[in-house]
Amino acid sequence: MTTLFSPFKLGRYTLPNRIVMAPMTRARAIDLRPNLDTAIYYQQRASAGLIISEGVPISEEGRGQAYTPGIYNPAQVEAWRKVTRAVHERGGRMFAQLWHVGRASHTSQQVGGLAPVGASDLKGENVYTWVVGDDGVAGMVPQSQPRQLATEEVARVTSDFVHAARCALEAEFDGIELHGANGYLFEQFINASVNNRSDRYGGSIANRLRFTLETVDAVAAAIGADRVGIRLAPFGRFNDMRPFEQERETWLALASELSKRNLAYVHLSDQETLGEQGIPQGFVAEFRAAYAGTLILAGGYDKQRGVAALDADKADLIAIGRAFIANPDLVERMRHDWPLAEPDRATFYGLGNHGYTDYPAYQLTPQA
Ligand SMILES: Cc1cc2nc3c(=O)[nH]c(=O)nc-3n(C[C@H](O)[C@H](O)[C@H](O)COP(=O)(O)O)c2cc1C
Repeated sequence: MTTLFSPFKLGRYTLPNRIVMAPMTRARAIDLRPNLDTAIYYQQRASAGLIISEGVPISEEGRGQAYTPGIYNPAQVEAWRKVTRAVHERGGRMFAQLWHVGRASHTSQQVGGLAPVGASDLKGENVYTWVVGDDGVAGMVPQSQPRQLATEEVARVTSDFVHAARCALEAEFDGIELHGANGYLFEQFINASVNNRSDRYGGSIANRLRFTLETVDAVAAAIGADRVGIRLAPFGRFNDMRPFEQERETWLALASELSKRNLAYVHLSDQETLGEQGIPQGFVAEFRAAYAGTLILAGGYDKQRGVAALDADKADLIAIGRAFIANPDLVERMRHDWPLAEPDRATFYGLGNHGYTDYPAYQLTPQA
């Protein structure tokens, strides 16, 4: 019987268990690169079958939030290499989540105070991003008016992803995950409520999927398809992703296109436990029927739900987010049914190691 603790062959890697650490932005990078605390934080969690890093901007243009560490210049590569080596030293494996936020940004995050770029010039309504103001204090501000990427610029963004993927391998990551979830650039192209383009990247389902698939193909050609995963959030509404016609058909078309590409995995993120709309009942099974490769599910999983999902063959791997923040030894705690610590939301984001590297591993108290 498959359990959360059975090994799994993921591309060229063998994972010792099926528990994946979900990507989580922790906003601790002062100078746009990771630091010693980052290495400690991920090393403490190296018993995960696979760690997926926090969202890592692929370029200056791809940045949307304060204190996020990028992966596009030599100093960042060198800094990330210390992190991946710390994880490998403890026998772990780690993919970098490559992130371009698209319109979900603010002029203060862009070089020269320029407008963020998007699939269109439609601005998200009532959506905010976290930036450091002129007074040096971080706070939430409404996302800025975006500028639509010109047709010929789209290939340049794809090549920025390829560059970042190469940087990730140079930094000794084991692979990369394209961040196609949560209303960022890929989803802005996929979602017809945002994408109102009239060129080959807009309109039909095939056109709206084109940027994502061109990038998947280019990155796979550069670093090997078996080192490339992609995260999606079908029907997710985060960052003002509104319903659109043929929404289900769009995601299923993407599933069957991805199915042809022998990727490391597809990772579906259900946003329901984050207070957003979840993936509709039955849709994961439809997606799995259309997508032949390795499937990771994330969103509100504990041991019981994870085991149930694997038993029912809904997925191959289970990704867990918030519980990993407070439980560096989550795998061992789940294996032994030890109690879990609760994460403190107040320290999810922001500088310093409090709420980051200071959650202890479980201490067994000797029984009298
Ligand atoms: C603090 C925090 C930061 C997050 N950052 C990211 C991110 O950078 N990329 C991403 O795809 N998802 C991100 N997520 C979503 C998580 O990966 C995960 O899908 C979500 O927390 C639901 O899983 P859980 O119920 O196990 O926590 C973040 C979630 C949290 C709580």
